[in-house]
Amino acid sequence: MTTLAITSQKGGVGKTTLAINLAYAFARSGRKTLLVDSDPQGSVGLSLTRQSRHLSGFYDFLENPAMNVEELIVPTRLPTFSLVAAGQSSAYELGSGPVSGNLHRIKGFVSQIRAMNYDLCIFDTAAGLFGVTADVLGVSNGVIVPQQSEPLGVRSVPKMLEALTRMRAVNPSLQVLGVVLTMVKKELSESLESAQALRGLLPQEMVMKTEIPRNDLYVQASARGLPVGVMEEGAETLSTFEKLRLELEQRISPPIPT
Ligand SMILES: Nc1ncnc2c1ncn2[C@@H]1O[C@H](COP(=O)(O)OP(=O)(O)OP(=O)(O)O)[C@@H](O)[C@H]1O
Ligand SMILES: [Mg+2]
Repeated sequence: MTTLAITSQKGGVGKTTLAINLAYAFARSGRKTLLVDSDPQGSVGLSLTRQSRHLSGFYDFLENPAMNVEELIVPTRLPTFSLVAAGQSSAYELGSGPVSGNLHRIKGFVSQIRAMNYDLCIFDTAAGLFGVTADVLGVSNGVIVPQQSEPLGVRSVPKMLEALTRMRAVNPSLQVLGVVLTMVKKELSESLESAQALRGLLPQEMVMKTEIPRNDLYVQASARGLPVGVMEEGAETLSTFEKLRLELEQRISPPIPT
């Protein structure tokens, strides 16, 4: 099983949107895919299921690792695609939950998922590289960094990638797969210049060729609780995430099982 994390230093850059739609693309390719919400804000659950506020999830498991992960799995209409919501995580949200020392528990979580024959487990994370997110990176094989295509954002990206690379000291199997530019607005020169600036700052292979365009459909899809490609109007976005999936598959080693 391959375990991927979607992380960023800054909030609001498109992590959750990328996690949902990329997981959907992998599930459509036939991989048994689990999307796990490790952000106490619970955005995956809010985006994909109506009853998410009442669902137990990832943080309930961290509180009680004797729990059976199978009970936390929420199926979707696509048989290869399931998710685990963040759960009843108010202690973590308010900062009173144990923010460190969860590595061992998260390892236990992942090994239960592996035993259920998943091909791929994708973690959506909270912004920043500390606390639970750092522990999620401690169990991941690959990390993907979405970055909004805007002037203020791009300068911090090289440092972020360096920090992720240093995490390989703790987890040598962590592959820094690269940056995905999000919310790219082709008709806005600042957006294009930011994208170019980022490509100039980083080694060529660290920025994915596929960019996610800015499109209001993403906002509408998350309001309706769907991956954007499920919406009739969103069919064209399927090809964007399909391209991104193929690009990532060339980098992920060992390859994701089929
Ligand atoms: N390509 C896009 N085009 C237009 N809007 C987008 C796009 N991607 C994301 N959004 C919108 O931008 C907002 C932030 O996106 P998202 O929630 O995915 O970011 P995030 O990094 O997960 O945020 P947080 O750090 O709060 O978890 C959301 O309202 C989302 O619907
Ligand atoms: Mg999010």
